[in-house]
Amino acid sequence: MISKISKIIVGVWPLSGDFGPVMPSDYERSVNRALDLGIKSFDTAPNYGNGYSESALGLILQGVKNININTKFGSLPFGVKKFGIDDLKKSFENSLKRLRVDKLNYIFLHNPRNEVKDFEEIINFMELLKSDNLINNYGISVAKDFNYHDISKFSGIQLDCNLLYLKDFNKYAGKNQEIFARSPLASGILSGKLKSNTKFHKSDYRSGWLDGTRLDGILNRLNVIKENIPHLTLPSLARKFLLFNNKIDWVIFGVKKASHINDIMDDINSKELDNSTIEKIIQLENNNFYQADNKGF
Ligand SMILES: NC(=O)c1ccc[n+]([C@@H]2O[C@H](COP(=O)([O-])OP(=O)(O)OC[C@H]3O[C@@H](n4cnc5c(N)ncnc54)[C@H](OP(=O)(O)O)[C@@H]3O)[C@@H](O)[C@H]2O)c1
Repeated sequence: MISKISKIIVGVWPLSGDFGPVMPSDYERSVNRALDLGIKSFDTAPNYGNGYSESALGLILQGVKNININTKFGSLPFGVKKFGIDDLKKSFENSLKRLRVDKLNYIFLHNPRNEVKDFEEIINFMELLKSDNLINNYGISVAKDFNYHDISKFSGIQLDCNLLYLKDFNKYAGKNQEIFARSPLASGILSGKLKSNTKFHKSDYRSGWLDGTRLDGILNRLNVIKENIPHLTLPSLARKFLLFNNKIDWVIFGVKKASHINDIMDDINSKELDNSTIEKIIQLENNNFYQADNKGF
């Protein structure tokens, strides 16, 4: 059981306000619940809540020892993207300040697409951060479905991975890099709460894409999963699928309230997901079951 707990990373993006309104007290309660249970790893980024996510996390974790904070650079507050070395350096320094730490566990290059032609200069810069003892390690957070020429020099790869999307996992897992699976509930789609009349708050980034025929198509896909694997709820199945997958080193759970951490613990403490169920899910995904459109999910 201990090893599964050490796989958990609390992703604090939903606590930033980008997934609809949240209470600041939920942030503190969620992080403290994680710490009480021995969960020590957190994932954030400068652009989550336009800096709020890092600042709030820094305040709550101030003085707490033996924790791993992972953040990113390249995507800045207010939708700005900058991947020049000077920009990355400035972003890194600002993250240290907001997070109130002298050192980070992991720094990820955040979703580069065509902005970066050659990773060598960036890798050299990240190596420098490592040799200066400012980070333990560095990785790349890959943009969904994007084809990279060569990302083999990054120690870790952060990628979308869930019951509805395994393409990037299939591409990168099983090599010599640490795999960080993010969006285990497909940004809430697998929470079990989604309905055809679900409307997201206007401040929720999902309000811009999760509606209409796309939403209907996704609900069809969820029904196929439920028909094929009826013995588990969707969110439990989604979490267990990643927690009990040996090719995944870390799972970054999007947490919006303390009870979400309890749900993860319940899944860890209950029966392991068997291989035949895992195989069934992989088969469904590989057959692109009920794909709503080309946009994913
Ligand atoms: N490009 C990148 O680098 C990138 C991209 C995406 C995510 N990430 C990282 O990965 C983390 C996880 O991704 P994600 O936020 O998309 O996570 P997720 O776990 O797929 O979805 C989070 C959403 O699922 C719902 N949820 C979570 N736990 C629940 C539970 N126990 N019961 C019911 N609903 C639950 C909440 O939805 P409601 O809001 O609807 O309640 C929450 O906002 C992020 O926090 C971030 O750190 C990185």
